[in-house]
Amino acid sequence: MRFNLNGRWVEDAQADPQSTILRYLRTQMAQVDVKEGCAGGDCGACTVMVGQVTEQGLQYHTVNACIALLASVHGAYVITPQGLASDGELHPAQQALIDHHGSQCGYCTPGFVMSMAALYQQQFSQADSDAAGQTVSNRPADRLNAWPVPEDEAIHAAISGNLCRCTGYRPIIDAARAMGEYPAKNADAVVSFDPKEINVSQENGLQPLLKKQQRQLFLPATEEQLKALLQQYPQATLWAGGTDLGLEISQRFSQFDTVICLHQIDSLQHWQHQSDEPSGQLVLGAGMTYTQLEPVLAKDFPSFAELLHRIGSRQIRNLGTLGGNIANASPIGDTPPVLLALGAQLEIDGIHGRHQIAAQDFFTGYKQTRLRTGEYLRAVILPKLSPSQTLHCFKVSKRYDDDISAVMYAAWLEIDDQQIIQARIACGGMAATPLRAYTVEQALTGQPWCEATVLAAAQQVEQDYQPIDDVRASQGYRLQLVRNLLLKTWAQQEVVA
Ligand SMILES: Cc1cc2nc3c(=O)[nH]c(=O)nc-3n(C[C@H](O)[C@H](O)[C@H](O)COP(=O)(O)OP(=O)(O)OC[C@H]3O[C@@H](n4cnc5c(N)ncnc54)[C@H](O)[C@@H]3O)c2cc1C
Ligand code: FES
Ligand code: FES
Repeated sequence: MRFNLNGRWVEDAQADPQSTILRYLRTQMAQVDVKEGCAGGDCGACTVMVGQVTEQGLQYHTVNACIALLASVHGAYVITPQGLASDGELHPAQQALIDHHGSQCGYCTPGFVMSMAALYQQQFSQADSDAAGQTVSNRPADRLNAWPVPEDEAIHAAISGNLCRCTGYRPIIDAARAMGEYPAKNADAVVSFDPKEINVSQENGLQPLLKKQQRQLFLPATEEQLKALLQQYPQATLWAGGTDLGLEISQRFSQFDTVICLHQIDSLQHWQHQSDEPSGQLVLGAGMTYTQLEPVLAKDFPSFAELLHRIGSRQIRNLGTLGGNIANASPIGDTPPVLLALGAQLEIDGIHGRHQIAAQDFFTGYKQTRLRTGEYLRAVILPKLSPSQTLHCFKVSKRYDDDISAVMYAAWLEIDDQQIIQARIACGGMAATPLRAYTVEQALTGQPWCEATVLAAAQQVEQDYQPIDDVRASQGYRLQLVRNLLLKTWAQQEVVA
């Protein structure tokens, strides 16, 4: 196990395979500037920046160190608040926070600093990619002047996973807007880096990266290696982003004997357009994170792309994957209803060979799926929308950011000449699995597309769903939401038309 911490390489073959980044930093490296608040990915106190080497230099993103496995940063750079300052000079994110009176308590501030610093570095990358043709070594020295002030939306997204329960966000946002006023030393990378030092072998995927007592962790680099490992360890726990599984370790203290991490397998993060369907298909690797999906979905499925901004926080979206959301099979997962409404297919591989299954046949019960032992989700196939088809995705939760749905609603409609040809409506939070509203769909199909049709169909919602009362919403509220969201679909479609 090898990673770079604040500019210094750390190697440890003895680390616990189940160590999170946070636990390792605080207990093995005495790096106590990274804080633990909730230990569940919610508060952002533990935020660190993770840097990957690309052709553009080091590209940073933030993660919740409390739920991310240490193995997830094998070969990567990890920056903590202390690592941001160099030679006694604070990073612009730190100095701007001080100057704008945005520094608060010792728990939330380190996390805010890291989220702001990642935004600062990303703004540089954006400026650099705009200045086409310039490599890391030949960028002009005065490029600091080109730091683009981020849009408020980008600032809000960057700190969407950082909670302060006591004071206010306004000074923090002011500081984020002002970061460009402070020139940064070593602005390219925060730390000096040499890609040659990474030295992470891709050939040892069949050997455990970490092993301690009965626990072992593998980091396959290809699907071939993954399948070979599944032959040997069919019961192994597949670990993608760990934004569901990480809580098993940090909050439930569960033990996993054999873990196979998926994040180094490039083919699970690929996406491509195919032309099999009349309008074509978009094939998404199951290992794509939400952050990777956002730009890919934006053109063909804008409503789906918009929904992604409502999933967790920036830190969660940097780690959490589409495949993890599906395989976790939570009734309140946000993407499954969309996949049901779109008529998506899931591609599965593993020890029984490759095959496909319709998303709507995948979920068999509360957190139960048709995935068999030794299998993994490989890809998700979305039929693209023809000009007569539309997709509407609505998430209703108590908070805008970083909150789980009370109801997640998705509607796919095919309307021709003001007549509903086909309708697929699916919801999460209404049953033990994500579920289609077949009676409502029947009430819509073949009818004229008008408000009266939608109002009549909305009366059928109780035929399809008998949700439970829980902390997020009562049964009556959930049913009323679905009725209202049908009407919202009508209103939105009218605006589009
Ligand atoms: C603070 C917080 C906020 C969240 N907010 C939301 C939210 O708004 N909406 C939402 O839907 N979810 C939310 N989640 C849940 C979680 O982020 C998502 O479900 C995420 O997509 C899980 O993906 P992952 O890669 O992290 O999965 P992991 O935790 O790695 O895995 C989850 C499950 O899927 C299995 N798995 C993963 N990949 C594969 C694969 N390719 N093949 C087979 N099995 C696989 C794992 O074995 C495990 O059983 C939140 C979680 C946290 C901690
Ligand atoms: S400690 Fe709260 S998100 Fe990690
Ligand atoms: S949580 Fe730090 S000031 Fe509120």
